[in-house]
Amino acid sequence: MSSAARDVDLEAVRREFPILEAKVYLNSCSLGALSRRAEARLGEFLALWHGMGASAWYEHWLARIEELRGKVASFWNADASETALLPSTSAALSVVSESVPAGSRNRIVCTELDFPTLPYQWRVKPGVEVVMLPSHDGVGVEPQQFADAVDARTLFVATSHVFFATGFVQDVAALAGIAHDAGAYCLIDGYQALGQIPVDVPASGVDFYTAGPLKWLCGGPGLAYLYVRRDLIEALRPRITSWFAAENQFAFDAGHFTYRRDARRFELGTPALAAVHTALGGQEILDEVGIEAVAARNRAHRTAHRWRPGCRLQPASGARAGAFRHRDDPPRRPRWRRSTSRRRGDHRRSPAGACAGQPTLLQYRGGRGPPGGGAGRAGTVSGPGGRKVRKLVTNAAQRTDGSGTGSGSRARVRRIATRTPRTR
Ligand SMILES: Cc1ncc(COP(=O)(O)O)c(C=O)c1O
Repeated sequence: MSSAARDVDLEAVRREFPILEAKVYLNSCSLGALSRRAEARLGEFLALWHGMGASAWYEHWLARIEELRGKVASFWNADASETALLPSTSAALSVVSESVPAGSRNRIVCTELDFPTLPYQWRVKPGVEVVMLPSHDGVGVEPQQFADAVDARTLFVATSHVFFATGFVQDVAALAGIAHDAGAYCLIDGYQALGQIPVDVPASGVDFYTAGPLKWLCGGPGLAYLYVRRDLIEALRPRITSWFAAENQFAFDAGHFTYRRDARRFELGTPALAAVHTALGGQEILDEVGIEAVAARNRAHRTAHRWRPGCRLQPASGARAGAFRHRDDPPRRPRWRRSTSRRRGDHRRSPAGACAGQPTLLQYRGGRGPPGGGAGRAGTVSGPGGRKVRKLVTNAAQRTDGSGTGSGSRARVRRIATRTPRTR
């Protein structure tokens, strides 16, 4: 049965997340809400640690790691053998960047809307040219821009599935095609996609895809997931490694190293077990609800809450009329993207004002960007916990005098706002 057809009581699912009783949670793009299920899984881990100590490794915990790997693999429609667990997205990106033979290729094609940890991987490597594609509208980047930049010098097209600051969804299959036509690899940072939209990684044709439980999978910090295309795995030899990547891990043979034949050859050491447990709790809920249902709910909220009084962005002084339209609405922007509103006006009136009278937790990036620019950051709610599913972007650099341009995404300051907004 398709997950869209499942009969899931979403209100019951919401009750699994205590914070939703108290707050409108608009911050899954930073940290997904904690569920009772994840908390219980963590409790099991702690109880075993108390009761069994290290012997729990062999009787329980190694199996939990494999359970999580299997769940993640099915969630992105790959095989467990194509799925590695790493400590963070940054670690996953860095092991990928240290796995491919560069040959004569030294060009990496990214965009200015990617989360900075992605281009940083190559900014620190001598002799590498990082091409940063601009966003002409501050929201997305056209596939044609990639096609124009990728050539025989290109080693990686390395970019995001969903841009962290704008919610724009890229056509990753098209990007994989562009990369492969030029003999380059395609590496996708899917942190803001997995758990928010359906993802079938093998079908997209990308070579590498990273994500993690922290955000939309409601599984907490301490882990990341890496997909490596099956026919690449055995051809690649990561230049940073660990005993988890060794074929016979428990032989403790320091004199020889042989890579594992599956994606575990990209792993970097003992996974954070507490995170494995909380991630299992979050993943279990996502699996029960089904990503199609999550995506459908997001779509419904994008429509239903667009103009709902008391639960939408209130125009600040100087805001343009219509500034709260979803920018994927024709005729302004015909393409589909995540629920995202870009707000013009005074950033001091934060989107917390969106839900007048309700304690709201969100995140935005203050106006400390480059002069005249700097995109806002999204506050989002979605997944099983999402009621007001929309991504709210404050363009902090756009001051009430209208002098900001709003392009770029170099916000430097992160502030978490938890407040009961004033009614205006
Ligand atoms: C798209 C994206 N990639 C990467 C990261 C950072 O990942 P990590 O801290 O696991 O390296 C974030 C964090 O917000 C993100 O939004």
